This record gives sequence, C-alpha cells and structure tokens, in this order.
Amino acid sequence: MSSPRGIFITFEGIDGSGKSTQARRLAEALREAGHEVVLTREPGGSEGAEQIRALVLEGDPDRWSPETEILLFTAARRDHLEKRILPALDAGRIVISDRFADSTRMYQGLSRGNLQAQVDGLHAMMIGVEPDVTFLIDMDPGTGLARAKGRQGTEERFEDFGEGLQRQMRDGFLTLAAAHPERFIVIDGARPMDAVATDVLAAALDRLPAPAEISAPAG
Ligand code: ADP
Ligand code: TYD
Repeated sequence: MSSPRGIFITFEGIDGSGKSTQARRLAEALREAGHEVVLTREPGGSEGAEQIRALVLEGDPDRWSPETEILLFTAARRDHLEKRILPALDAGRIVISDRFADSTRMYQGLSRGNLQAQVDGLHAMMIGVEPDVTFLIDMDPGTGLARAKGRQGTEERFEDFGEGLQRQMRDGFLTLAAAHPERFIVIDGARPMDAVATDVLAAALDRLPAPAEISAPAG
C-alpha cells in the first residue's frame, strides 16, 4: 500500500457519547482554517459499505452469527477504505471518520464472547491501516445511552444491548487508548458540546501540520 500524504483522524466511543457531533464540528473548524476535509462514517462511508450498514444495523439482532458480523463490518471497512479513505489521503486531504476499526475491536471483539483474535487477524489481513489520531470521546454509559435513546430511528442494533454492554465497551476503549498512546487522545465527553469541541480542535491543531504542508507534493 502506498504511503498516504493526508491525515487520518477517527472518533470512537460508546453510543451517544457525541462522536458524530464532534466529528462534524472538527470538520467545520478545520475547513475554516483552510484544510481540505473529508467527513465520513462507519459502518458506511461508501456506496457498498452503506448497503452493508443496513444489513448489520437493521432487522433481527440474531440474524448474523458473531463471526459473520465480523466479516460484514470488515467487508464494509474494506470498501470504504478502497473507495473513499485511501483516495482522499492520497490526494493530501484530512479524513475524519466517525468510528473505524477500534469499534470492531470493541463491539465484535468483546460483546458476544471474546473474538479479539479473529477481529485482529482479519484486520491485519484485509485492512492494515491505523488512524494517525483517534479521539476517544469518553463518558459514563448511563449518560450516553440516554442521549442515544433520545434519537429516533431503526438502527438500534447495539444500543439495545443496554448499559452493561456499554460499560464493558467504555472500559475496553479506555484500555485500548492506554495501549496506544501514540494515536489516542481521550476527551471527557460529559461536558457541554462547545467545551468538548474546543478541546478536540486544540488537540487536533497541535498534531496537524499547516494546511500547505499537508498537501505539498512529497520530495
Ligand atoms: P454519537 O455519534 O456518539 O452516538 P451524537 O453526536 O449523535 O453521538 O450525539 C447523541 C445525542 O446527544 C444527539 O442528540 C446530540 O445532539 C446530543 N449531544 C451530543 N453532544 C452532547 C453534549 N456534549 N451535551 C449534550 N448533548 C449532546
Ligand atoms: P453509529 O452510527 O456510530 O452509532 P452511534 O451514533 O449510536 O454511536 O454506529 C452504529 C452502531 O454500529 C453502533 O452501535 C456501534 C456499531 N458498530 C459495530 O458494532 N462495529 C463496528 O465496526 C462499527 C463501525 C460500528
């Protein structure tokens, strides 16, 4: 795989922690600062991956075995990577994704038995890309769940797992962040949106080169 020139930023955290809100706000702020930004999400982000999103998030929760679910999320990610993420990084853009592989490590790796080895094996074989920066929007699961339940929609698949699972996910994300301090930035999400957005932007600007440096041709 060629070495991309752009910057890959992801947002992770439990359902309702404010990832989508913060991803959107960071994209807006970086665009205002003159950066070229692609804002995307998982599962989804490309045409094929959005079709897989509907398969995994709607309908009977027992429709897929845990192993099949890993394959579906990884298939969606592979399409997203090929069609959207890597072309944008190759063009020198900043890509901001609302969730990425860390979500599979948590949700598929931990929620229905321990399938971490299968998740990691498939990631190494089919994805092989890690973000430059990952914002973990951390918060108490009770608050996150109340926020997530406040939204209307048919995509309730993992929110329905309840507070026990979300607590396990939160602990798992914090453990993952501690294991990868080179890319994780943990942000306290249980504060007003503006305060969270200010911290996220400051941390992002700290890590980013000036706009011209990102898209300048190599060599
Ligand atoms: P996620 O993508 O992590 O599920 P969202 O950004 O969709 O979270 O936010 C979930 C809900 O909580 C939305 O209704 C959003 O407007 C609200 N919300 C997001 N951030 C905050 C915050 N800091 N304080 C209060 N409500 C928030
Ligand atoms: P998302 O739309 O980000 O939900 P939310 O806004 O509630 O956080 O993601 C939908 C659900 O998909 C969410 O419950 C987490 C789950 N998910 C996985 O289980 N594995 C994955 O690899 C990804 C990307 C998401």
